[in-house]
Amino acid sequence: MAKKSIGVGIIGFGTVGTGTAKTLIENAAVIKQRTGLDITLKKIADLDTTRDRGVKLPAGVLINDAKALINDPEIDIVVELMGGIHPAKEFMLQAIKNGKHVVTANKALLATEGNELFAEARSKSVEIGFEAAVAGGIPIIKVLREGLIANNILAVYGIINGTSNYILTKMTYEKVEFADALKEAQALGYAEADPTFDVEGIDTAHKLTILSSLAYGIELSYNSVYKEGITRLTAQDIELASELGYKVKLLAIAKASDGKIEMRVHPTMVPHEYLISKVDGVFNAVFVEGDAVGSTLYYGRGAGDMPTGSAVVADIVDIARNIASGSECRVPGIAAGSSGMKIKSIEDIESMYYFRFSALDEPGVLSKISGILGSRNISIASVIQRGRSKDGGSVPLVVLTHRAREKDVISAVKEIDGLPIVVDKTLFIRVEGRES
Ligand code: HSE
Repeated sequence: MAKKSIGVGIIGFGTVGTGTAKTLIENAAVIKQRTGLDITLKKIADLDTTRDRGVKLPAGVLINDAKALINDPEIDIVVELMGGIHPAKEFMLQAIKNGKHVVTANKALLATEGNELFAEARSKSVEIGFEAAVAGGIPIIKVLREGLIANNILAVYGIINGTSNYILTKMTYEKVEFADALKEAQALGYAEADPTFDVEGIDTAHKLTILSSLAYGIELSYNSVYKEGITRLTAQDIELASELGYKVKLLAIAKASDGKIEMRVHPTMVPHEYLISKVDGVFNAVFVEGDAVGSTLYYGRGAGDMPTGSAVVADIVDIARNIASGSECRVPGIAAGSSGMKIKSIEDIESMYYFRFSALDEPGVLSKISGILGSRNISIASVIQRGRSKDGGSVPLVVLTHRAREKDVISAVKEIDGLPIVVDKTLFIRVEGRES
């Protein structure tokens, strides 16, 4: 007879653990009414069993021993919400070995160790649910794995780190500098334990690794994602970008070009008229273009206890339904087979570029710089020079280019940065949109 009663155990009673427990308990009636199943929170394991998280748990549910939870025969689904790589990985592997399904929000663990975890899960015929690992409450994993299954995916563009989007939004509207905006973002509690994960594009790259694997049928390949953070951007860059008609966003980009996949995370200038440029604050959005469906866009909260808890519980329900109908692993975690697609190196991509040169304010400077760009086949679309230096010092010289090859850009910047008239390292931002 089909199993109608499913036991759940959560490891980690922090922000997401609390949101998950709250959702399971407070929304139990609607979940039961929709699924016909009894999904019961049997245990939560956390080292801190005394702090009040504002959730009323039945007696005996909160314990301090994750191993006891993993070995509990009443638990069918182990939910890993402790974060970090170790011992989260070992706990997941043990749960899988014990024949339990696993749900996790741990993007860093999946991006870096996921191939092993998914192989282990396959060999034991159990599922790993990870909707909460990317873009929190936005069901983007379901979109790629199920809703758009019939499409060849042409491109994925995502704002998938709330902290960096919050910082860039502050820099845009309040004209504050990066360091001040970061302090405010940390105070709001969205940042990772190590905020360099947010501002250096590491968290975004973890999430892009997962999205790319689903979109393009490749192994999880975190080390092949190009990443660059937002720490070198100044409020002035953001203002100049705005004058040129663009917002600056930390974009995760995966796209198929010349039969290969580009996977990159970097600040990107996005035209004001693109919907994704209007995604501000801690909100996330993912744009997906499929060959059959065309352009689609998904928007919502990418972090926080309840939005992430909503995604975790959706995975629990999916797995519970599969257990109840005897169809576990109906939807493979990552693709059942490999597409064999290769990954393009960042040097081989093409883009438009914004350059901010810190050059002395002297006759002939522009011609020297444009000469070097021209020698690499980099064509200038527009130039802005802001102000005159009063003391013979440097002024920002901003150049927007037509489409160019990254390889050529790197070599041009190297030569330009070696000129005696250039006093600081050149900053460049890749630009999306149609060529003007
Ligand atoms: N630090 C992440 C963010 C949390 O800011 O989006 C959600 O993954």
